[in-house]
Amino acid sequence: MSPNAAQTTPATRSAQLFERAKKVMPGGVSRNTVLWSAVPPYVAHGQGCRVTDIDGVTRIDFANNVASLIHGHAYPPVTQAVAAQLSRGTAFMMATEQEVLHAEHMCSRSQGFDRIRFVNSGTEAVMAALKAARAFTGRPKIAKVEGAYHGAYDYVETSQGSTPKDWGSVDHPSRVPLVHGAPQSTMEEVVVIPFDDIDRSIALLNEHKADLACVVLDLLPHRVGLKPASPAFVNAIREWTARHGALLVLDEVITFRTEVGGAQQRYGIHGDLTALGKMIGGGFPVGALAGKAQFMEVLNPAAPKLLFPLSGTFSANPVTMTAGRVAMEHFDAKAAARLNALGDRVRHGIEQAIARTGACASVTGGGSMFRVHMKAQVPSNYREAYTTPEEGKRLKLMLEHLFAEGFLMVGTCTGMLSTPMTETEIDALVAAMESGFRRLAKA
Ligand SMILES: Cc1ncc(COP(=O)(O)O)c(C=O)c1O
Repeated sequence: MSPNAAQTTPATRSAQLFERAKKVMPGGVSRNTVLWSAVPPYVAHGQGCRVTDIDGVTRIDFANNVASLIHGHAYPPVTQAVAAQLSRGTAFMMATEQEVLHAEHMCSRSQGFDRIRFVNSGTEAVMAALKAARAFTGRPKIAKVEGAYHGAYDYVETSQGSTPKDWGSVDHPSRVPLVHGAPQSTMEEVVVIPFDDIDRSIALLNEHKADLACVVLDLLPHRVGLKPASPAFVNAIREWTARHGALLVLDEVITFRTEVGGAQQRYGIHGDLTALGKMIGGGFPVGALAGKAQFMEVLNPAAPKLLFPLSGTFSANPVTMTAGRVAMEHFDAKAAARLNALGDRVRHGIEQAIARTGACASVTGGGSMFRVHMKAQVPSNYREAYTTPEEGKRLKLMLEHLFAEGFLMVGTCTGMLSTPMTETEIDALVAAMESGFRRLAKA
């Protein structure tokens, strides 16, 4: 069935399943991110860069489970290795060779990774990084960028979703809770800094320098607008943390796909600690904390004094370790460069489509990621990237148009590429965007 035909079918199998789901799950979903249309389509199967739903409609997948599938779906080297592991067992109260192999591979990808500890999600990885920074420095506070998403740990949720109504002055951004009932005491341990604004950020950090354990930074933060941080900003934060005895924690849960050694490789720096996740699990739940030996030592249970005890029932399970290692071994410098070139092609193509149609829109991104904004001016921080209600309506129309044309996107009109993609899929998306911009102009 064509995607367009599916949209007009009144009672799809997905619609029927969603009715049942609503009776047993809050809002009918397990993750809010899948509820980007009134009825979420249910998946039947995926192969490469295509996904087929239970109503038989196949679409090109530019969401890739929010950047976690670097090789798309059912990548044969991963499925074969995992199938072999499944028959040997999935979880043990014993260490496995698979975790050693994956750890060796990951540490070989960056000189900043002397040691690594695997966990089960990006949220856990960021949480572990912040706790490790506190354990190493003995200080309580953390600093983060306004609007940046780092998962569901209370401290980093602060000001993740602030709005013009509550974000306060840019010199002192307010600490805004995400979850109703979040304790004020938690937010008091958080310093919120504006993205890419050296003077204001350094002034804010200076106010708390004696108490700051770390600054957590995403070098290409999706919700802040997906504009790469300027090297000057990154260097300023790197120098400030080194000078004041705080750690630089890089959140590379998404951006690790940028180069073999992550986005930090492009900046010629290393985080003291780096939070990882998503693609390093080869399609299975994963997170990891990697960094220099002196900082990672806080996790060492054999140390004379263990500063940061950390356990996790499914951490480093052999299925995830096998899938992750195989996926990463197949994502070498050549594969990353090829995907980044496709990223350049899609960003350039969308820019040209905007120019040809005169649409009030812009595109940001880097490496194999891109995001379309319904703003003429390219946004350079969270406040500029904030989607107004009017822009939100146009964004929704564009997403619906792309969906009907057979493309799956992340709900912010963001796309992440996978290695099975070629110029054909990129050019098809650009053409669909262009027809979308023309429809928006008529609407
Ligand atoms: C930058 C960043 N950090 C952390 C996380 C949390 O990862 P997870 O969803 O695996 O908990 C995400 C998830 O989207 C992310 O984008």
